[in-house]
Amino acid sequence: MNEVVKLERRDVIAIVTVNSPPVNALSAAVRGGIFDCIKSAIADPEVQAIVLTCAGRTFIAGADITEFGKPPKPPGLAEVLLAMENSPKPIIAAIHGTALGGGLEVALACHFRVATRDARLGLPEVKLGLLPGAGGTQRLPRAVGPELAVKMIVGGDPISASDALKHGLIEEIVEGPASGGESFARKVLAEKRPLRKLRDDDSKLAAARADRSIFTNAVAALTKKARGLEAPFAAADAVGAAIDLPFDEGLKKEREGFLKLVASDQSKAQRYAFFSEREAAKIAGVPEGTKPRNVERVAIIGAGTMGGGIAMSFANAGIPVTLIETGEEQLKRGMGVMQKNYEATAARGGIPADAPAKRMGLITGKVGLENVRDADLIIEAVFETMAIKKEVFTALDKYAKPGAVLASNTSYLNIDEIAKVTKRPQDVLGMHFFSPANVMKLCEIVRADKTAPDALTTAVAVARKIAKVPAVVGVCDGFVGNRMLAQRGKQSEKLLFEGALPQQVDAVVTKFGMPMGPFAMSDLAGLDIGWRSRQDRGIKSEIADALCEAGRFGQKTGKGYYKYEAGSRSALPDPEVEKLIDETLQRLGRKKRVVSDDEILERMMYPMINEGARILEEKVAARPSDIDVIWLYGYGWPIYRGGPMFYADQVGLKHIADRLSYYARETNDPSLEPSPLLKRLAAEGKTFASLTQSAKAA
Ligand code: 3HC
Ligand code: NAI
Repeated sequence: MNEVVKLERRDVIAIVTVNSPPVNALSAAVRGGIFDCIKSAIADPEVQAIVLTCAGRTFIAGADITEFGKPPKPPGLAEVLLAMENSPKPIIAAIHGTALGGGLEVALACHFRVATRDARLGLPEVKLGLLPGAGGTQRLPRAVGPELAVKMIVGGDPISASDALKHGLIEEIVEGPASGGESFARKVLAEKRPLRKLRDDDSKLAAARADRSIFTNAVAALTKKARGLEAPFAAADAVGAAIDLPFDEGLKKEREGFLKLVASDQSKAQRYAFFSEREAAKIAGVPEGTKPRNVERVAIIGAGTMGGGIAMSFANAGIPVTLIETGEEQLKRGMGVMQKNYEATAARGGIPADAPAKRMGLITGKVGLENVRDADLIIEAVFETMAIKKEVFTALDKYAKPGAVLASNTSYLNIDEIAKVTKRPQDVLGMHFFSPANVMKLCEIVRADKTAPDALTTAVAVARKIAKVPAVVGVCDGFVGNRMLAQRGKQSEKLLFEGALPQQVDAVVTKFGMPMGPFAMSDLAGLDIGWRSRQDRGIKSEIADALCEAGRFGQKTGKGYYKYEAGSRSALPDPEVEKLIDETLQRLGRKKRVVSDDEILERMMYPMINEGARILEEKVAARPSDIDVIWLYGYGWPIYRGGPMFYADQVGLKHIADRLSYYARETNDPSLEPSPLLKRLAAEGKTFASLTQSAKAA
């Protein structure tokens, strides 16, 4: 019918096939093609049933996100779905891969659905700051009941084909989508099954209509963690409308909600995050088609906090790992921590009861570096000391098989220097995971001077395989994330000397949407580490030093910038800390002033953005969106604010540059002066995003 949707007939069955790579998204051409094919099949007197299926790796994975925010092109999806649901001939959706968002909504407008065993079905719109806008909030509750529907719509996670079958979302599990769809269509005709129009079937709504608390309780549980986000609440309201209103009125309510969200700043930021994450996997300057090396076995050196978490990430993805330590005792401790961690997750219901044994079965503990011999990828996670790292990499050069990728998980150290001790610097790079490594999604892939392109693509591919979000960065102190964070740390400390309190600073940062403020984060990490390192370097930080001298090392001692009740992690403001700060300021002859929340926010954010600009200038990050990905997935930056560089563009670079100059003067800190790139963009009235646009155009 058109270049992306075709219609063929197998005697009385019409097969409509969407073929629009990569994911069969519902572009105008796909919508138009489906519309025309369905109309034509309905009009064809020979056709008795219609199968809608897709070519390629997946069923329709949703609306075409790139079309949002542009003038709508006909036909609208609602119009297409109406024609399908009203078809006098049965329409069967035959699903494989993922039926997501608008894709599942298309399937819900069909009269029957079948799916292959590995298919997944879901309405993930909420993850883009949206709600399903083509009937999903009204038809899904009618298909599976409001409780599961609201879980899928507000949570956004897809369900498996077997769960879909259990809950009545599909009729059958089939072998191949097109062939399975066709045989199911013949069954429908042979059995003369009545057309099942979900719009007319309220049977699964009855319980929630009689007792709305079933639904309200489910919503309350689901939205508990949705702090700051608009979409989960709007999506829950739309599902509520399915319970409270007739179908067409519910549909209208859904549409209003969708149109409001699609134009919102939050959804724009979340859509930007979706594309930024995918863009980050494309490595600048690597020849196209560079194939990653084969990685079947991984070795991790060091079974401490990070090594254990990294090993778990591989085991979670089914990849066997050898975990290497210096002695049996250290190994036993490391293995024990992982075992306990898995058991706690299983006890919470986070993983199946047999998962701890299965996953631990993939992790083999060994003593001695010679055990890296089989590994295709080796990740070093030993103490953060250059001399020890060099020792380990010298040994790796001796034991690792040729072509193995050698990665360091260092937080700050120079990978070029580490690579130099080996005879194979082309195989050396950084894979900087974040703590807790089995939970945090970011992996900064550090490209050293001599890193080979295929070593880099290997690290990126492996990171994606273990469900991490990779972002390639260059060598510098702290790489991208920690380097920017250091700027915030500097300001938070200075703010205490000017009259702010830890709880005031943290409150501003968490109100902005970060999961933790800088002082609560320091308490969690432990204040003694920085204290010892300052002592080694002969540096002073009067307030932090005074806290440590008073034995306040953070959460581990029950006292730090805050106090903690026994067994609790909740940070309580402590008058003793206020007193200690006052005394320190008096001793130093510092005058306190009232520091406004606005100033705190600017001084927490703008110096980091300024550092981000320097990072771009130095080409340590290739794109502003890579920096945003790092903050979204490594530091809990609120997704609805897109990331620091996206946020900066929203605020306006001129304002940020002006404020930085102001603070540089007021606080007598020339390092706060806007960087040359920020200054130039501000003067030209441009954004950080313009850098990527002009690079793409070039
Ligand atoms: N629209 C436009 N492009 C899309 C897209 C979409 N819905 N989904 C994926 N793509 C693009 C990606 O940007 C990527 O492009 P690139 O190769 O140029 O970077 C390419 O397709 C492949 O995507 P992935 O790298 O993510 O491929 P995977 O195989 O890892 O994952 C997927 C496939 C699970 C389908 C994943 O792409 C995904 O989750 N997509 C989004 C699904 C979604 O959110 N759907 C709802 C959309 S909103 C909607 O439908 C509104 C409706 O209610 C009206
Ligand atoms: P850790 O102290 O918890 O663990 C280090 C482990 O390495 C110890 O168990 C030690 O016995 C082992 N080890 C030391 N030398 C070894 C050798 N030669 N061979 C085998 N094992 C050896 O340290 P942590 O926190 O896990 O840090 C490890 C690395 O990860 C460091 O480079 C650190 O900078 C980096 N990192 C740490 C993060 C964190 O939040 N803890 C976050 C990101 C990176």
